[in-house]
Amino acid sequence: MNDPKVIVALDYDDRIAVERLLSNLTPGECRVKVGKELFTHFGPDIIKYIQDSGFEVFLDLKFHDIPATVRKACKAACSLGVWMLNVHALGGREMLHAAREGVGESNHKSKLIAVTILTSSNVKDIHQIGLHGELSENVLRLASMVHDAQLDGVVCSAQEASIIRKVTNDEFILVSPGIRPSGVQNNDQKRVLTPKEALDNGANYLVIGRPITQAENPNRVLQDINRELVNRI
Ligand code: C5P
Repeated sequence: MNDPKVIVALDYDDRIAVERLLSNLTPGECRVKVGKELFTHFGPDIIKYIQDSGFEVFLDLKFHDIPATVRKACKAACSLGVWMLNVHALGGREMLHAAREGVGESNHKSKLIAVTILTSSNVKDIHQIGLHGELSENVLRLASMVHDAQLDGVVCSAQEASIIRKVTNDEFILVSPGIRPSGVQNNDQKRVLTPKEALDNGANYLVIGRPITQAENPNRVLQDINRELVNRI
């Protein structure tokens, strides 16, 4: 598969579980996401293991710090050869530019995206930290800022994808979690879309965790999703 749309979230604290899952999946049919938990446990070694197994990595560490630190952290992440990495848009314009520079300084040009507002936040939470207005206004303002700073895209809920697309352009990458194949449990995700609905809304990549990682046969679930996506027109 040329450019697989599914990014499997490796939300594990156990290396054996990662090895077992990857041996069941086919490289080229998905990418994988390494977050703070797995990376804090196993560090760059686990990235290397995953890449040696043939999978591309989205390093989801959501950097948010002073610009100079974020620049160096992004450069360091690129040196691991990851396919994609991310920062927090709330770090501000200068920090986003510094992140862009850090990627530019590395020989490996990883894709750089930003988180706008975490979907775990509600309107009360964002007012508490001093933001005003509706959640969607804040998401759109931050997504425009990320686009202006020439990052490659944002993480967003698939519900927001079509409105973000309108204030950015066709090349801007939208990565959406909160995806559930039809007939699968929602777990703790509240507003979910199916893989097909998410791509139809304008998402480019889908982060999917438990529906794949906790399935009896993860590869079969992945194949079913990929088949649904290929046949979606
Ligand atoms: O198991 P599930 O498919 O819900 O996993 C989704 C993954 O996407 C998890 O790694 C979760 O932390 C992440 N995520 C999310 N919602 C966001 C951002 C990231 O569920 N807004």
